[in-house]
Amino acid sequence: MVILGIESTCDETSVGIVENGRKIISSIDATSANLFEKYGGVVPEIAAREQVKFIIPLLKETFSNFDLKKIDAFAVAYGPGLIGSLLIGVETAKTLSFFLNKPLIAVNHLEGHVYANWLTTGKIPILPAIALIISGGHTDLVFVKSFDDFKWLGGTLDDSVGEAFDKVAKILGLSYPGGPQVEKLAKTFSDSLGADNFKPLYNLPFPMINSRDFNFSFSGIKTFVFNLVKNNREINPNRLCFEFQKSVFDVLEKKTILALREYDAKCLIVGGGVSANNFLRKMINDSCLKIEVDCYFPAKKFSIDNGAMIASAAFFKKNYVSPLDLSASSTLHF
Ligand code: KG4
Ligand code: ZN
Repeated sequence: MVILGIESTCDETSVGIVENGRKIISSIDATSANLFEKYGGVVPEIAAREQVKFIIPLLKETFSNFDLKKIDAFAVAYGPGLIGSLLIGVETAKTLSFFLNKPLIAVNHLEGHVYANWLTTGKIPILPAIALIISGGHTDLVFVKSFDDFKWLGGTLDDSVGEAFDKVAKILGLSYPGGPQVEKLAKTFSDSLGADNFKPLYNLPFPMINSRDFNFSFSGIKTFVFNLVKNNREINPNRLCFEFQKSVFDVLEKKTILALREYDAKCLIVGGGVSANNFLRKMINDSCLKIEVDCYFPAKKFSIDNGAMIASAAFFKKNYVSPLDLSASSTLHF
């Protein structure tokens, strides 16, 4: 079954065609992230207008290489996300489905991040699994019992982990999106260290690390970094990025391992933009190795928002055909 997936939840516009949930036939995207460098975060109105600009050229390019008639269903991420951006993808998918008389499949964007791990020619996750979704809008731990049964265990009480990266980047004068910039500075610091030579200097908090639940909070650490930078001229930004990453990732790792233990899961699935981070990948991989859990990360290109992951998710829920009066939902949950 060949599914075309559209992703337009935030500042990426992406169209992917995937066969049987795994084989990528086409995947192209456009982003308006460069427009937000000066703001330090996405401006929803601008992001929505850019979605309008990008969607038709992306579809045109997709169909110049692939026969439209070979598509069996159209899938779209209908939430959560920015409502103006979401509407562009949802209305486009509805129109394609209506005129080509093919089913429409609505996909939860967060589930899409889970299924990004099926877009590989290698091993795929075995359910039940724990999923850790870490993106610009979300930080969630989920028990994925089966393709139809996602149980939300906990998430952030305030800022998402990606948001914390973006804010810290902004405080340090780095451009949006902040995650890759913070990682780059942290790497410069870690490359300059001898093995095991690290001693923390800035006393950053490890928010909620011992709370023994699956909730997170990242707004305090952002404020901590803000005050630290404001009150101290001697800050080394590379070291600060390294210590910030360590705090945040230690918390994510501890709660993820707790969830794996509590649900006796032998498989971890990680997804979302922050899962592109190499420090996080190594830390989580090492911990999973120790407790004999198989750990999956998407290819970096599919860590961030993309249409292929939406097409993959749709394949695994292809019996859920959506009505053509489908609405976008900015606050959709697991
Ligand atoms: O999943 P995503 O593309 O969009 C949302 O659904 O939100 O995630 C975007 C987020 C941004 O906050 C960005 O700074 C963060 O992912 N990000 C990273 C890295 N690459 C992207 N955070 C940390 N390290 C990275 N290498
Ligand atoms: Zn996302």
